[in-house]
Amino acid sequence: MSVTIKSPREIELMREAGKILAKVHEELGKALKPGMSTYDIDRLGEELIRSFGCEPSFKNYQGYPASICVSVNEEVVHGIPTKKRLIQEGDIVSLDAGVIYKGYHSDAARTHGIGEISEDARLLIERTRQSFFEGMKYAKAGNHLHEISAAIGGYAESFGYGVVRDLCGHGIGTHLHEDPEIPNFKQFRRGIKLRPGMTLAVEPMINLGTADVVWMDDDWTVIAEDMSLSAHYENTIVITDGEPEILTLTESEIAAGDIGI
Ligand code: MF3
Ligand code: CO
Repeated sequence: MSVTIKSPREIELMREAGKILAKVHEELGKALKPGMSTYDIDRLGEELIRSFGCEPSFKNYQGYPASICVSVNEEVVHGIPTKKRLIQEGDIVSLDAGVIYKGYHSDAARTHGIGEISEDARLLIERTRQSFFEGMKYAKAGNHLHEISAAIGGYAESFGYGVVRDLCGHGIGTHLHEDPEIPNFKQFRRGIKLRPGMTLAVEPMINLGTADVVWMDDDWTVIAEDMSLSAHYENTIVITDGEPEILTLTESEIAAGDIGI
């Protein structure tokens, strides 16, 4: 599969998919409480997604059994919700979700602190988010894809963090994962030239310690090899003639001028 350019009509559908997903994340973020199970988070997330007339993109994707990936503390991504895991004060919880609206996907992730969290954890979450926006400074038509990668990785590495190398962002559209792959660190090739109408899911995964990750026996959950904390921040974006349009922000994230580009 090659990188596709979406038509204005397709982008409009992805805009809608993005808005809905932003609301789902907003509601999930508000609902997180100590004592809640990761299974409860998934149930609520799936209900919200369906209440907006969408399908959860992740459910049954390559056998993934849930709608929301819930990854706690040293879990990087793709944690499987379970009734046995209760989130606690001091945890950091990464929620990754995707919706399908009229055949078009959006994909976004946020990491939340539960109650009072350590200063190290707070900074990791904030800087992981900012690394995405550092990447956005280069997400412009005529630039090359790996300028985004280098900006994300360079920013995160300046704090001594481990930038996960074994997982990447991706193109998105009628499929959850489309070309191109979008690494979060400097590459030796410049990557494809960015063009208006390309839709991308950019998703830095940043560890407090080593960049190395391992897969758990469930074949999904990815954890930091040294068990250090990990944060994830992802949005679906469109390349335009000017600034990138970020589809998966809430009205209030946009109104707050909180888009950091
Ligand atoms: N945002 C995640 C990714 O792009 C989606 C999780 S895939 C699933 O890898 F299989 F867990 F659903
Ligand atoms: Co993704």
